Amino acid sequence: MTVAESAYLTEEIAELKWKKNALILAHNYQLGEIQDVADYVGDSLELSQIAARSTAEVIVFCGVRFMAETAAILCPEKSVLLPDIDSGCLLADMITAEQLRQKKENLPQATVVCYVNSPAEVKAEADICCTSANAVEIVDSLNSNEILFIPDQHLGHYASTKTDKHIILWPGYCPTHTRIRREDILRVKGAYPEAKVVVHPECRPEVIAIADEVYGTGGMVRYAHRDDVKELIVGTEIGIIHRLRKENPNKRFIPASEQAICPDMKLITLEKVWHSLRDMRPQIQVEEMIRDRARTAIDRMLAAPSGGGISDEMATEKLPSVRR
Ligand code: 13P
Repeated sequence: MTVAESAYLTEEIAELKWKKNALILAHNYQLGEIQDVADYVGDSLELSQIAARSTAEVIVFCGVRFMAETAAILCPEKSVLLPDIDSGCLLADMITAEQLRQKKENLPQATVVCYVNSPAEVKAEADICCTSANAVEIVDSLNSNEILFIPDQHLGHYASTKTDKHIILWPGYCPTHTRIRREDILRVKGAYPEAKVVVHPECRPEVIAIADEVYGTGGMVRYAHRDDVKELIVGTEIGIIHRLRKENPNKRFIPASEQAICPDMKLITLEKVWHSLRDMRPQIQVEEMIRDRARTAIDRMLAAPSGGGISDEMATEKLPSVRR
């Protein structure tokens, strides 16, 4: 796309946004041009909560389906648009509500902790949700000693190394994060020996084992702002590098692997955002019965100590999402 085309689309989007009282939210993995037109850039949970607290009537969710669904669950009175309906999540698709119901029958004592990277129907079957930012705290906050952690085995395994609870893992995984190998980190570290290494908890255990820090994308953004972080090897989807560099122009950010690209996150383009706002579709709606039960699992997470609810500072735009 030429600079002129991109400028034209940006203007059209701004005009439609104003006319329709819309808010554009972009996940940290979105293309740079999408992050640049968004009102807020953030992690999955932050964005859903911003959607819920905003007075906008329309939310354009530039992310993947489960994120837009979470926003639709938290704010059913708003129109939630996902500019490309095919923007799914392979990890979320590694479990169905029926499979979970069967597993629960075999594990009647277990409390089901469901990572938000899951379909609404699966959340509706779970006891409580968690995000990459609060999985350990959520697991620890439960009375039960037996936990069925779904669907990400690596996040579940990471939580199991931080708690005494017995955690039963579901065999799901994120294909993008598992593409990052221990050898990648060691090779990049060889080239930048002074750099710190931060990785997402969806990474393989052997990758997590050699990282300095393990954070979800929101935590990575905050970590990158610290004064003692000058060079950072980043073990997650490479879209986040755009935001890190933009917010920290004097620091060096190196992707742990150039292969860590989520194809679904890259489906959303400026053109699709424009069309979506103009035509008010595709809209994400969650059927009422599923929505109410999924909401209970999300609300339990938000009510838990360190449940990941956005702070008042963040709600008033001081931290850490980007308001333009
Ligand atoms: P965050 O909640 O850390 O942004 O992660 C979202 C995600 O989909 C990771 O693959």
